Amino acid sequence: MAIYSKVYLPDKIKYKRYIDKIYKTSWITNNGKLKIKLEKKLKEFLKVKNVILVSNGTVALQILYRALSLKGNVITTPFSYVATSNTLIWEGLSPNFVDIDKDTLNIDVTKISSNINNSTSAILPVHVFGNPCDIEEINKIAKKNKLKVIYDASHCFNTNYKGKSILSYGDASIMSLHATKIFHTIEGGAIITNNNTLAKRIRMISNFGKNDNDKYEILGINAKMNEFEAAMGLCNLHEFSKIKKFRKKIWNFYYLNLKNHFSFQIFSKHSIPNYSYFPIIFKTEKSLIKAIKLLNKNKVYVRRYFYPSLDKIFFSRKYGKCINSNNIAKRIICLPISQELNKNNLLKITKILINSVELKN
Ligand SMILES: Cc1ncc(COP(=O)(O)O)c(C=O)c1O
Repeated sequence: MAIYSKVYLPDKIKYKRYIDKIYKTSWITNNGKLKIKLEKKLKEFLKVKNVILVSNGTVALQILYRALSLKGNVITTPFSYVATSNTLIWEGLSPNFVDIDKDTLNIDVTKISSNINNSTSAILPVHVFGNPCDIEEINKIAKKNKLKVIYDASHCFNTNYKGKSILSYGDASIMSLHATKIFHTIEGGAIITNNNTLAKRIRMISNFGKNDNDKYEILGINAKMNEFEAAMGLCNLHEFSKIKKFRKKIWNFYYLNLKNHFSFQIFSKHSIPNYSYFPIIFKTEKSLIKAIKLLNKNKVYVRRYFYPSLDKIFFSRKYGKCINSNNIAKRIICLPISQELNKNNLLKITKILINSVELKN
């Protein structure tokens, strides 16, 4: 049987109950009851002021750039998923890639200030694998230079920093709620902000620019989450403690068995992982490729994530060259985490990995 990160599906009977409700009312989208309920529940669960659910994390970023009227250059990291920089380019903005810290894998805050110029309007850091960025320093730089801060917190469901939700920092944060995420709505995204006026603007932009009186007040787009997705979110939220529990168990197994053989991302001492990902860093790309070949031969499938470094993609090469990001992107993989993995599967994976780096050829 193949081993990979299989998507989590909640109890079918529970989901069906929601589907029955949807069929009864025929209300399947357009700010439906289940979407409103999920927003309310997420606001309470995450302890944040405003949650706006949208159709995916990519469009969540695009909406925020518009809502905050960003212009010119945006400082960001090349060690992320392609959506982070693609959305900037798509919206007519220029990513300004700043290299990462090779230990935390987040944007290197010591390199931000020297990249700011008259055209810079914002900083867009990513909390990579749920590891909080240096929030205080980013805030200081943004304040001094009058820049907006948007956090790509796609990996940060249920992540706290200094006892508070990581999503409550900066002008706003986005999360991806894609099927591959620890908490998902099939496809989906969320925008989180403490600013009520900004939240109102975001709601309008994501619904064709319409205000509460059904008048077009602003240029908008369609980014609505539908009721089937919201139902999936309600089920997964109900089962979240179970999801986190099995992921933590797998995470701890990998950690204990691999800590003497691979390097890991250094995590902030003000936070703990949410067990979304288990990334391991090889000494060389050659040893990574050898390990992947061996794993695949044994029907184990891992993800090169993030790869490549975004500054290596042909259409974004002109936005900067980042040595650390390239170096890490070539040597990192994320291991499978899924409910179906048992101890034998985990022993098999770790054994292959250890053999691949210890055995000569
Ligand atoms: C860091 C990061 N940003 C943005 C996205 C885009 O989110 P979505 O797939 O929901 O559009 C992802 C998705 O994997 C991501 O990992």
